[in-house]
Amino acid sequence: MIKQHFLLIDFFSYLQSIMNIGQGVLIILKQIIKNEEHISSRFYCIFFGKAIIGLSCLMLISCTKEDENITAPNETIKIPVIVHIIHNGEEIGEGPNITFEQVKSQIEVLNEDYRKKEYTNGFNINSVGADMEIMFFLAEYSPSGNKLAEAGIDRVNGGRQEWPKGILRNPIETTLKPATFWDPTKYLNIWTVNFGGFTGRDLLGYAQFPSNSGLAGLNSDGGLAETDGVVIGYKYFGSSQKGDFDYIFSPFNLGRTCTHEIGHWLGLRHIWGDGECDVDDYCYDTPNASEPSYGCLQNKYSCRSYDMIENYMDYSDDACMNTFTIDQKSRITTVLNNSPRRKNLYNNYKELVQ
Ligand code: ARG
Ligand code: ZN
Ligand code: CA
Repeated sequence: MIKQHFLLIDFFSYLQSIMNIGQGVLIILKQIIKNEEHISSRFYCIFFGKAIIGLSCLMLISCTKEDENITAPNETIKIPVIVHIIHNGEEIGEGPNITFEQVKSQIEVLNEDYRKKEYTNGFNINSVGADMEIMFFLAEYSPSGNKLAEAGIDRVNGGRQEWPKGILRNPIETTLKPATFWDPTKYLNIWTVNFGGFTGRDLLGYAQFPSNSGLAGLNSDGGLAETDGVVIGYKYFGSSQKGDFDYIFSPFNLGRTCTHEIGHWLGLRHIWGDGECDVDDYCYDTPNASEPSYGCLQNKYSCRSYDMIENYMDYSDDACMNTFTIDQKSRITTVLNNSPRRKNLYNNYKELVQ
């Protein structure tokens, strides 16, 4: 609910004195209502006619203050995370049964990238580079309220060595996720799996888009609750700069696959719009590009502008990414305000993470 107060002041006087009084009154009123969040004020002056030197000035001050349970502007959004580590009976630390430290390294990367944190890989000096003001925390409690043995981790023996890739009609979507997901109104579900097969520039991860955000470029139905979240190949999860994780696969070894997929999960599209120069990502501050960029192509030029290859929503190597933009932030804010499952995450932080 938004409270509104209007104060209407009507003065009849000469211009000079009106402006003086008006300014004085405005200052006093701002003092009185200084605990209100937004103050906007305007003067409206109307001449009554040539013969009358008098003016009528109306001063309208409107203040709005949002209720406490609505996310205040500029407050960091805190998202509880559960990582379902899908293994095949290996010991912890062996193959896909990754360690807590590897998971922790990924959460650190997310908090650097989504906060544009200084002195980390996530910092940039781009004039449109945004601090997304979102932070990720390993959940400390399960849906039934039990304290987790390892924060943010749910280890599951999936009973198979490899998980076929592809988003539709595969066992990850039809079997694994529905059997293991935690309430997506409370947790961001991340599944780490062994995709299997070739591990070069293959599938690194994928995500489910939000539903009912109202945003251009997204379907109203992003998918079911039981499949909501992101899936990441365990060799691309976490950062090899933050521990001794030698099997993390370079050049996708700095945790940016998860940064990218969570970008989708929060409503972002690929920087090249998944098409040529006539389509974009519905963000004005990301220049159109004709195709994805791979590797680390500085000064790559397409669609009459330099491509923003450093954007997390491109396909560049992990080491070359460091930017989300202001317009991308505004899409994500819309999702966090509108999308049924996403907008509740924030309220559950206290219950699940302390
Ligand atoms: N879904 C994309 C893929 O599998 C993720 C790309 C992430 N890029 C990266 N440098 N980590 O190709
Ligand atoms: Zn993508
Ligand atoms: Ca764009």
